[in-house]
Amino acid sequence: MNLGVNIDHICVLRAARAVNDPDIIAGMYEAISGGADQITVHLREDRRHIDENDALNIIKLCKVPVNIECSIEPSIIDIICNLRPQRATIVPERRAELTTEGGLNLKAKGLKEAIKKLKENEIEISLFIDPLKDAIDATKELDCDIVELHTGAYANAFLMLNSNLSHTKYSIPSLACLDKNALKANLLNELANIQNTAIYANKHNIKVAAGHGLNYQNVCLVAQIPQIFELNIGQSIIARSVFTGLNLAVKEMKALLRAHI
Ligand code: PXP
Repeated sequence: MNLGVNIDHICVLRAARAVNDPDIIAGMYEAISGGADQITVHLREDRRHIDENDALNIIKLCKVPVNIECSIEPSIIDIICNLRPQRATIVPERRAELTTEGGLNLKAKGLKEAIKKLKENEIEISLFIDPLKDAIDATKELDCDIVELHTGAYANAFLMLNSNLSHTKYSIPSLACLDKNALKANLLNELANIQNTAIYANKHNIKVAAGHGLNYQNVCLVAQIPQIFELNIGQSIIARSVFTGLNLAVKEMKALLRAHI
């Protein structure tokens, strides 16, 4: 199981003081030395994390494949085409969101054109989709190499069931009314969606990655799904690195992935 480490979360701290500290490139080297198989960053339209200069330096210096997450906004697609990372993961993007909240609208105007441009520049295409068979059917119309299944709903159910989240201001409103049994059923249903969608995608010769909200507790059940070849994880690894250092935080995640394949 490969691990892509989303390092753009480092830039949240950098932005807090508007100085180049922590340095994203130093973070990239730490993640690679900890065992990251891929470096993932999100070039957002509002540049709230990395900007094109960061992306350029990462692509120039990175010794493992670089995966840039992006919307289909034409000016962003043009930048990615010039940067030429190994992979572009197309994600839905809303300016007001804290993070990517759901899978891509696969009927979105401009999606086919964005894919075509990226492909012309020999960039591998991944589409970030909800873990549903219908979404796989919709991707058959599109020229994509990989789908990345959104694991956010699974992660939310796991957190509400197995942590103190529901007693904090971060409790998830749509799940707050569920008792333990209902949360358990919800969690199993979300996991089954990921598993069944991965099996269905593989049957149709589509490679499957997954990510969003995965952490050191909930990753194991997803890492056991043999049809998934890669997980992209950011928030939990960068959060842990505050206490352990990034190298060790990545090493620990890699060890978990190895233990569950
Ligand atoms: N995969 C995609 C496509 C994402 O947009 C994100 C969020 O940056 C992740 C994976 C990683 O999510 P998290 O930061 O919750 O681990």
